[in-house]
Amino acid sequence: MSLQIQSLEAYKEAYQKSVENPSLFWDEIANQFLWRKKWTKTLEYDWTVPETKWFLGGQMNITENALDRHLETRGDQVALICEPNSPEEETKYITYKELHSKVCAFANVLKRNGAKKGDRICIYMPMILELSVAILACARIGAIHSVVFAGFSSTALAARINDATCSILLTADGGFRGDKITPLKDIADEALKNAPSIKKSIICQRTYQNITWNPSIDVWWHEELEKVDDNCPAETMDSEDMLFILYTSGSTGKPKGMVHTCGGYMIYATYSFQNVFQYKEGDIYWCSADIGWITGHSYILYGPLISGATSILFEGVPSYPDYGRFWQICEKHKVNQFYTAPTAIRALAKHPTSFIDKYDLSSLKVLGTVGEPINEEAWHWYDDNIGKNKCPIVDTWFQTENGGIMITSLAGITESKPTYATLPLPGIQPVLMDVNSNEIEKVEAEGILAIKYPWPSIARTIYGDHERYKNVYFSAYENYYFPGDGALRDERGNYRITGRVDDVVIVSGHNLGTAPIENAINEHEKIVESAVVGFPHDLKGFALYAFVIPYDGVEVNDELAKEVREVVANTIGPIAKPDKIQFVKGLPKTRSGKIMRRILRKIASNEIDSLGDVSTLLNPEVVKNIIENKL
Ligand code: WTA
Repeated sequence: MSLQIQSLEAYKEAYQKSVENPSLFWDEIANQFLWRKKWTKTLEYDWTVPETKWFLGGQMNITENALDRHLETRGDQVALICEPNSPEEETKYITYKELHSKVCAFANVLKRNGAKKGDRICIYMPMILELSVAILACARIGAIHSVVFAGFSSTALAARINDATCSILLTADGGFRGDKITPLKDIADEALKNAPSIKKSIICQRTYQNITWNPSIDVWWHEELEKVDDNCPAETMDSEDMLFILYTSGSTGKPKGMVHTCGGYMIYATYSFQNVFQYKEGDIYWCSADIGWITGHSYILYGPLISGATSILFEGVPSYPDYGRFWQICEKHKVNQFYTAPTAIRALAKHPTSFIDKYDLSSLKVLGTVGEPINEEAWHWYDDNIGKNKCPIVDTWFQTENGGIMITSLAGITESKPTYATLPLPGIQPVLMDVNSNEIEKVEAEGILAIKYPWPSIARTIYGDHERYKNVYFSAYENYYFPGDGALRDERGNYRITGRVDDVVIVSGHNLGTAPIENAINEHEKIVESAVVGFPHDLKGFALYAFVIPYDGVEVNDELAKEVREVVANTIGPIAKPDKIQFVKGLPKTRSGKIMRRILRKIASNEIDSLGDVSTLLNPEVVKNIIENKL
C-alpha cells in the first residue's frame, strides 16, 4: 500500500482533487485497505444534527489491516521496538508475526473474561508492549478501548470508567517512569471503590511490587494467557462501529470522551502517517508521545502498524537517566523520523548541548512536533541541534477530536516555516472566520479557525452526550466544525495556530489574547517559557499575571521583570504589559504538554482553596512551589 504524495506538484493536484471530488479522492485511498465488504456510499453528513458517516455499509477489522495483512509480506519484520524505562534493561524487538500471535492470545483472554463486541474496556497501563497488545486485542474482538494515561489519579480514572461504564479494567502492578514507580494497582483499587461497573480486572506484572489482591475481580495477565491459544479470528466490524473512546486532556472542565469509529479512523490515521512523515520501507520511526494521548493512538500504533512500519514504544521519560536519553535512543536504533512535543523540546533546550553531542544523530531525516504552538526559539533549537539543519520539521496541528493530523507540512515535500503548521493535508478544508462569523476571503489574514468539510476521522460524538458535542463543536458557526483555536494565514496560505481562543482576558475593556503575549515574552533570550492569565483588578476589571520560567543560571531580579514588560510593550503594546511577573521553575501542564491556565488563573486570583484535582497534571509538584512564591 502506498498512499504517499511525493512532490509539491502531486500535493497541489491531490488537494484540488480532494476539494472537487471528495468521494473519488477518498475512495481511491480506502480501496488500498483490506475490507471484508466494500462500502456502498463514501460519505453522508449533516452538520446541523450534527452527524458524519464514512464508508457506509463497509465492513472490516482494523487489526487485520495492522497485523494479518502483513504476515506473508513482512511477518519477520520488527513491528514494535519496546525501549524500557532504564537503558540497563533489555530492549524488546517484536515482529509482526509475534505481535499478531500476542494480540490473538490476549483477545482470547478478554473473551474468556466475558468481553464482547461493543463492551467498553478501560486500559490503565504503562508504556509497555502489553499496552499495545491490549489495545489491539480489544479492536480484534470489537470491544471499545478507552485508554487512560497511567499518570492519572484514582479520581480521574474512576470518572472515566464511570462515564463509559467500562466492564473490564486492564492494568499493571506498577509502572516505571524515570526514577519513580507509579503504584498503578493501588491507584486502580482506590478508583474501583467508586467504579462499580468493573467486573474483571486483569493485572500485568511489570514492577513485581507488593499489591493487594481482590479475588472477586482480579486475575493475573500471565496466568490467563496460559489458558488460551493464539487463534482468534477478527470480529467483523461496520465502518461506523465504535473503535475507541479517548478522553481529552481536559484543560477546561469535565473531560469529554471523544468517540472514534473503525473505518474512517483507520483510513485517516494511516493516510496522514504516510504523508506527513514520508516514511519509507525499512525506516525506523519514533513518536515519543504517550499512548494515552491521541498522538500515541494514531502515530505509535495504528498509522505505523497499518503501514507496515517499525515503530518505537518508549516506556520512560526524556530526563532519565539524564537529559540525553532521547538522543541515546535515536542513536541506538538509528531513528529516521522523530516526533515529539514542544514542551519536551523546551525542557531539553534548557540543558547543555553536551547531552546531545555525545550521540550520532545522522540517521535522522524528519523531525516532528505536536500539541501546542512551538515558539521560534524552540523551533530553531530543534532544527540546529537535533536536525543539524538538514531535517524538515513537521509542525503538526490536530486534536483528539480530529483523529489525525490536519494541518502540517509534508516532510521534504511542502515547505516548513518556523512556528507555522503550514498547509492542510489534501482532504482537509480549513478556513478563517471573522468576528461576524463570515469566512475571510483574503489569503493573508488573522481569524478563528474552522473546518468546512468532513474528513474521515472526525470524532462522531462525545460518548453519552451528543448535545454537548453539538454545542462545543458545531454551534459557533453553522455548518462548520469549530476547533476553538485562533490562527494567522500568510500570503502563501500557510497557517500559524496562535492558541486557544478561549484564553482571552479583558483588560480595561481591551480584549487581549494571552497567546501572543506569551509568545512575545518567550522571545526574550533569557526566558524559556511563560503563561499569562487574568486576575480581578479594581481599576482595570482584569489585569495580567505572567508566570515566567527563566533559563537555568539566569539571575532573577527587577531588571529582568522590567525587560519582560518592555518586550511585551514593544511587540503588542503597553496595554498588554503584565501587572505581575512571577519567576517560576515550572508551569502546571497536562500530560500532552498544555499549560493548565485554569489553575494559574485560580492562583493569580487568590482562589487557592478551589484549585480542584491537580493530580492529572504531568507535574503536580510545581503547583505548591508557585503558590508559596505567589506575588
Ligand atoms: C493545540 C493534540 C499549535 C491546539 C494532538 C489544539 C497545537 C489542541 C498543535 C488539541 C500545533 C495541537 N500547533 N497548537 N502543532 N497541535 N495544538 O486534543 O490548541 O491534546 O486545539 O490533541 O492542542 O489538543 P489535543
